[in-house]
Amino acid sequence: MNDELLRVEGLTYALGEDKTILDHLSFSVREGSFTLLCGPNGAGKSTLLRILKGLYPLEEGTIFLEGKDVTKKEKHRLREIGLVFQDADSQFVGQSVEKDIRFGVENLALPVEEQNRRIDEVLHLLSMEEQRHRNPHTLSGGEKRKLAIAGVLVMQPKLILLDEPFANLDYQSIVATLKLLLRLQKNGHTIILVSHEIEKCLAHADHVLVLSDSLLVEEGSPKKVLPRLSGHGIYVPHDTPLEKLTWLTQ
Ligand SMILES: Nc1ncnc2c1ncn2[C@@H]1O[C@H](COP(=O)(O)OP(=O)(O)O)[C@@H](O)[C@H]1O
Ligand SMILES: [Mg+2]
Repeated sequence: MNDELLRVEGLTYALGEDKTILDHLSFSVREGSFTLLCGPNGAGKSTLLRILKGLYPLEEGTIFLEGKDVTKKEKHRLREIGLVFQDADSQFVGQSVEKDIRFGVENLALPVEEQNRRIDEVLHLLSMEEQRHRNPHTLSGGEKRKLAIAGVLVMQPKLILLDEPFANLDYQSIVATLKLLLRLQKNGHTIILVSHEIEKCLAHADHVLVLSDSLLVEEGSPKKVLPRLSGHGIYVPHDTPLEKLTWLTQ
């Protein structure tokens, strides 16, 4: 459980000559841990997730996955790292929940029986069996978010990245999504969650990274980071102790 799954050293990303989006970031993520990545709008959180996933080429810095240098191995990262996009709900491709989940595994050249086994497993894990034949566009907001997570889980990634998974969800769906993520972590998954909604997830994180204006400005346990968040323009309920921030799962 304590092994390092991901390590990033000096990760720097710029657009053109003078627009630095990410500036020499270094951090690591333990296997089986739940990392919260937070920071104000425009800090570079979504860009960081896309780089980790292998969607943008990296010119400066090194990315290690399970101790191996995978900086230049974008295809390897695409396969081993799952990313639930912020707007995943508008990107469904299948005519049904099952077909949408199948879309990803079909490209893995797995035998059909293994594809079916994985799809059944994910539908069961996410309690989505009843929606199997539904058109994704007819699902509720919470169900859509679950389907987006299912599409990533079925690929059995080593690391799961989620970009603002609580955005535009109602209270019940936020609770369900958070509980699902905690269940996945309990099952051994490693998660990096991007959210500025500190009050919802800080208390459940093992480790917190704070990005502000391209820089990693804070890093540590939720307890250590909590008193420093407001200094970086991140909303924190006033004078709320960490223990009280588990309200969503009680
Ligand atoms: N394709 C792009 N072209 C120009 N600027 C971009 C592009 N993508 C992101 N940016 C800029 O990079 C910075 C970080 O954006 P982003 O990673 O989306 O931040 P966050 O997810 O933390 O809100 C912002 O200043 C944003 O305007
Ligand atoms: Mg973003």
